[in-house]
Amino acid sequence: MRPLTLCVSRKERTEVICADALEELARRRETLLGRGALLFTDENVLALFGEKIERAMSGVPLFAMKPGERHKNEKTLFSLLGEMERRGLGRDGVLIGLGGGVVGDVGGLAAGLFMRGIAFWSFPTTLLAQVDAALGGKTAIDFAGIKNLVGGFFQPAEIVCDAGFLSTLPKRELLSGLGEIVKHGALSAPLFEKLCQNEKHLLDLSFLQSVAFENLAFKASVVRQDPFEKTGARAALNLGHTTAHAIEAERAYRHGECVLMGLALESRLARKYLSCDEPFLLRLESLCLSALGGGKLRRIADLSLAAALRDKKNRAGKIVPIVPTGLGRFEPLPLPFEEYRQAVREAAAR
Ligand SMILES: NC(=O)c1ccc[n+]([C@@H]2O[C@H](COP(=O)([O-])OP(=O)(O)OC[C@H]3O[C@@H](n4cnc5c(N)ncnc54)[C@H](O)[C@@H]3O)[C@@H](O)[C@H]2O)c1
Ligand SMILES: [Zn+2]
Repeated sequence: MRPLTLCVSRKERTEVICADALEELARRRETLLGRGALLFTDENVLALFGEKIERAMSGVPLFAMKPGERHKNEKTLFSLLGEMERRGLGRDGVLIGLGGGVVGDVGGLAAGLFMRGIAFWSFPTTLLAQVDAALGGKTAIDFAGIKNLVGGFFQPAEIVCDAGFLSTLPKRELLSGLGEIVKHGALSAPLFEKLCQNEKHLLDLSFLQSVAFENLAFKASVVRQDPFEKTGARAALNLGHTTAHAIEAERAYRHGECVLMGLALESRLARKYLSCDEPFLLRLESLCLSALGGGKLRRIADLSLAAALRDKKNRAGKIVPIVPTGLGRFEPLPLPFEEYRQAVREAAAR
């Protein structure tokens, strides 16, 4: 795979490569020892890959957080910042984040804050992080019970995407990444074709490994147009997400599953309310249902969807999902809350 570069300003650029992570770490060890570095990971990743990492990076200190969203908080952030200070990292230092989206979000934020910003090298190890979270510069911790409340835009200097990490991921984590892959497919013709051709084995590891880097490249093409989420181009990446967040808030499903349900339901809303490419939307719905497996969508009809009321994009009592209307096409669909809730329930029961 050809490397790619994402420049968001004259000073900020991200180099993205597809490579064997441990070989890359070993190759850079001398540089890292010279500059001063800290490898940040979580305890699960450490248990799986710790020995190999230590072999590749001997002499480079390591800090592991407790795994999971529960620990994406100020306590972990400040423990990490404290460790960076104790290890004597300077302006030229490097923080390496090796893990899923949680390690990436906390690590990226710590690197952005420490001495007003040091280099962050990201080694994503989950499918979700490889196809989505690692790239784009969004960093955050959850605070006061609100997800991603405190954060900032800090671009990683490097991303090394190694699909080999995915072989230890449980199926549910793969499904979580697949949601974003199908979302990208709704926006990109070549990706959509690949997904349709592989509809019967969307969760096969070899298929997911073969499309991971292409997804990151696609996300880069969108972020490039709207690096700081100001122009609206990045809104494309919110496809299916208003409904996904409303479902996710009820805590029955993981984010990626909710994205698949959100895409299928919003596609049905688009067919009900807007002029759209019906055959395309039917193919998209079929992909989402194949990825989800049977039965899940019908259960959504019983959810309250109350969280939709608090969506950041709500305007004047209306909820405004960004719904797919054709391949690479999407529109905001403003609906009064009660009408939205009723329409989603009907769409789920169909
Ligand atoms: N910054 C962004 O643009 C962006 C985009 C999407 C999501 N996110 C954030 O990403 C987070 C979700 O990311 P995630 O799903 O990667 O969660 P995660 O980092 O919690 O990883 C999921 C689980 O997989 C484990 N794990 C990691 N790599 C593994 C491997 N190779 N094999 C086996 N287990 C492994 C982790 O320890 C964890 O238990 C959320 O906090 C979300 O807000 C950020
Ligand atoms: Zn998402």
